[in-house]
Amino acid sequence: MSTAPRRILVTSALPYANGPIHIGHLVEYLQTDIWVRFQKLRGHECHYVCADDAHGTPIMLRAEQEGIAPEALIARIGAEHLADFTAFGVAFDNYHSTHSPENREIATLIYERLRDAGHITRRAIQQAFDPVKQMFLPDRFIKGTCPRCGAQDQYGDNCEACGATYAPTDLLDPRSVLTGVTPEQRESEHLFFRLGNFETMLKEWLADSDLQPGVVNKLQEWFEAGLQDWDISRDAPYFGFEIPDAPGKYFYVWLDAPIGYLASFRHFCNRTGVDFGSFCADDSTAEMYHFIGKDIMYFHTLFWPAMLKGAGFRLPSSVFVHGFLTVDGQKMSKSRGTFITARTYLDHLHPEYLRYYFAAKLGAAIDDIDLNLEDFQHRVNADLVGKVVNIASRCAGFITRNFAGRLAAQGDDPALVSALQAAGSGIAQAYEAREFGRAMREIMALADRVNQYIDQRKPWVLAKQENAAEELHAVCSTGIELFRLLLIYLKPVLPFMAREAEEFLACGELHWRDHETVLGEHVIKPFKPLLNRIDPAKVTAMIEDSKATPPTPAAKAANPAPAAGAAVTAPEKADAPAQISIDEFGRIDLRVARVAAANAVEGADKLVQLTLDLGTETRQVFAGIKAACAPEALVGKLVVMVANLAPRKMRFGVSEGMVLAASGEGPGIFLISPETGAEPGMRVK
Ligand code: MSP
Ligand code: ZN
Repeated sequence: MSTAPRRILVTSALPYANGPIHIGHLVEYLQTDIWVRFQKLRGHECHYVCADDAHGTPIMLRAEQEGIAPEALIARIGAEHLADFTAFGVAFDNYHSTHSPENREIATLIYERLRDAGHITRRAIQQAFDPVKQMFLPDRFIKGTCPRCGAQDQYGDNCEACGATYAPTDLLDPRSVLTGVTPEQRESEHLFFRLGNFETMLKEWLADSDLQPGVVNKLQEWFEAGLQDWDISRDAPYFGFEIPDAPGKYFYVWLDAPIGYLASFRHFCNRTGVDFGSFCADDSTAEMYHFIGKDIMYFHTLFWPAMLKGAGFRLPSSVFVHGFLTVDGQKMSKSRGTFITARTYLDHLHPEYLRYYFAAKLGAAIDDIDLNLEDFQHRVNADLVGKVVNIASRCAGFITRNFAGRLAAQGDDPALVSALQAAGSGIAQAYEAREFGRAMREIMALADRVNQYIDQRKPWVLAKQENAAEELHAVCSTGIELFRLLLIYLKPVLPFMAREAEEFLACGELHWRDHETVLGEHVIKPFKPLLNRIDPAKVTAMIEDSKATPPTPAAKAANPAPAAGAAVTAPEKADAPAQISIDEFGRIDLRVARVAAANAVEGADKLVQLTLDLGTETRQVFAGIKAACAPEALVGKLVVMVANLAPRKMRFGVSEGMVLAASGEGPGIFLISPETGAEPGMRVK
């Protein structure tokens, strides 16, 4: 394999700034990080950049819900993301935000170049508008009854019950997720990117860029379906960049998101002096790769190369697509405790367990990968602890105790050492091709051979024999040499362990080419355990914890459209009920009602039978509020009732709703009453 230094720019997709990193995301960031670390170990100039994807409606609404500015929200979440990544050993050279001056500048430049070259067109479209919230609604913010199967409560773009896809206007009884009102259709002018202008260019790029077969097939399907204009603008209110020549209109989040790759790199170049143009200009000879999940292929293999081309930038050398994570064969699920955030994982387990497990499962195909929790424990314990770390722990003690830490000048089994060295090029090829599973299998097969060697030479027996000191020295020194070679090969996957092993071996920082040499006569430091077996109790505790933390919009990552941003993610308090989304809240019909009649109920000491006037109808409600005040004093009072509670049959009759009252530890009950001026029937929200 050629070792001429390459110049490589690598990106992972930019995580949305409205939810925490979870183990599904980590498939991507760990895959990319391992590949980047491999390239750097090989001595290539490789830069790994990423950023938070900070724009769009869900982020705007989430900030509003928390009562903070979107800038404050994205700063907080960006810092959390970076802390999680760092703890997992994901070593970006730059982590930025799409809400940055660099991104505004490059997005504007790209837009203006596309516009001036005739690739932008404008036309008015009809779109759902929430008259209460005074904003246009993305499809995911409209729900209603599926026009095909009649399932209720389906999103505006597709039905989860029958799989139908449709426009929000097709929904029966559509309503806004934000306010519950029926959306209106309003007209607004939008800007479109004319993707069709790039069909020929995209087909050439497809032929040149060595895409995975699964990606090529998808692209061919899309070409056959025809390339449509892409709507790149959104009306205010929107959190994003205002379009320079279209006041009140903003770039759609997906326009400036991939530009965020360039902006993060620009930011990196500004602070390091690396030449931006030599990586990103049209005539660049450097390589540029994007690692992404299969859900965002359309954006990266059609829109993005077309935008780059149209604006005079270089094209991606390739786009590397991975599948989705399942846990124990199923989609990550909050109720099963398998929606595991990076933070919850880290609270219980060592990051390198997951780094190794994902590496062992990852290949170059787009297949989904499964985290089987049993297999995870077994594999990590057997391979990392039982095979790799074991080699060092079986040999190091003798070197330290019997030979003052000094390795023998002459090893014992040169053929085995050569065999491990010779395996390096095959392992490198596997890494290069993102066949990490193959690389791990090859490395573990070598580790097996080393353990067999130690089993055969039995240093613990040699140590007890007379006149065997030299042999013991040679065998244990060879064991350490072999351990070092395995470690070089594992270093992209296990950066923390590698650092500790470098310390133990006192060998300085290891590079890939160091597998061609041996330590020879050399003093090592005393061995400390490098990694412990996975404690099954910790896996159980992690699952239990994951049941307790609320899921977030990021859980909707499977959806290429911005996920409904309604759910909140503040940690649940022990005494508070589970959080609900604003959508769930909107389903509670709270109304002002006037107490028309109130009577004590015979045989129930707390209950009052209320007749409530809702303006257009009356309801009978049984309420446990006798402690609040005498029934007759209630007549004429305004109260707040839950008007759409399913009727409940009670011993004394049917209760057709509920009135709101406050109560604490003590005996008092306090009715909630609107201020004077409120009218029966008014909606409370
Ligand atoms: N913000 C966009 C990407 C913009 S890139 C210019 C986005 N963000 S995301 O947070 O939803 O996802 C970030 C990456 O993580 C995507 O590549 C996505 O495919 C990947 N994954 C999210 N959930 C995943 C799994 N459950 N499994 C594997 N990868 C997953 O999309
Ligand atoms: Zn349906």
